[in-house]
Amino acid sequence: MLPRIFITRRWPKSVEDHIAARYEVTFNVDDQPLTQDMLRAAAREFDILCPTVSDRLGSDLFDQPGCKVRLVCNYGVGFEHIDLAACKRHKIVVTNTPDILTDATAEIAILLMLMAARRAGEGEREIRSGGWSGWRPTHLLGAQTTGKTLGLVGFGRIAQATAAKARGLGMRIVYHSRRRADAAIEQALNAAYHEQLSGLLAEADFVSLHCPGGPETANLIDMRRLAEMRSTAFLINTSRGSVIDEQALAIALETGLIAGAGLDVFQNEPHVSPDLLNAPNIVLLPHLGSATADTRIAMGMRAVSNFEHWIARTPCPDRVA
Ligand code: DGY
Repeated sequence: MLPRIFITRRWPKSVEDHIAARYEVTFNVDDQPLTQDMLRAAAREFDILCPTVSDRLGSDLFDQPGCKVRLVCNYGVGFEHIDLAACKRHKIVVTNTPDILTDATAEIAILLMLMAARRAGEGEREIRSGGWSGWRPTHLLGAQTTGKTLGLVGFGRIAQATAAKARGLGMRIVYHSRRRADAAIEQALNAAYHEQLSGLLAEADFVSLHCPGGPETANLIDMRRLAEMRSTAFLINTSRGSVIDEQALAIALETGLIAGAGLDVFQNEPHVSPDLLNAPNIVLLPHLGSATADTRIAMGMRAVSNFEHWIARTPCPDRVA
């Protein structure tokens, strides 16, 4: 008997058609975020859950009596929203969709960096509100990226792709991560390692966060860390909202502790704190890191490949638990 699959949000049509033609699948046709009760009910009904970052899959889901789930096939690379320990306890396999969204997400990091540095959001808002009075030498002066230092916190695939693109902008690369990268990678990107985060924060003109999220990096960038950054520096986040203490960031932006910020991810998505919404020197995007049509199709097909391997009882290519 084929396993029953539940997909918690709408996926690109071509991927949904591929799945619907081959498997016993239920889609969340309304594409509304599911409540915890709905997710718990789905866990009692389906063998395979395919969630996204907008679902929270805590231990309550997997510990409940009657939980049927054997595979959690995440649509996305990050899995901070899934309780891996609980999955391991119940021998539930968990997979993700790495690699294919690397470039799309790195593009958003570069986009945020340029937008924040060149005050593109402010300029756009000015035109749309009818407030543009014409060219003048002192109008919306920003910072240039060329020749500046980009500091990457975390040095996985997306950070390295961001570094490669930033090199094209003429930037110098420094990075901090728990494990130093191979010499070949450092050489290819001309990237200098900082063993201490403080050293990187003191040196970088742009700090871009690429941590996986989770308890180890919760509020990593707090008031103390923001105070270690240069007052002319910009903070960019395309990783997980949990890495930044948002209240501290709002204060740092208001008091000029740092020059600006660009965020694609937030602590409590889709809620964005009013303090950030009201800050002029921050660019805010609604979690668009992997949002290109090609990437989202590739993510769906990668998830399909994972559950097809699981159904065929062969090792899942992207197993994380
Ligand atoms: C990811 O793939 O982790 C993106 O943030 C969307 O979930």
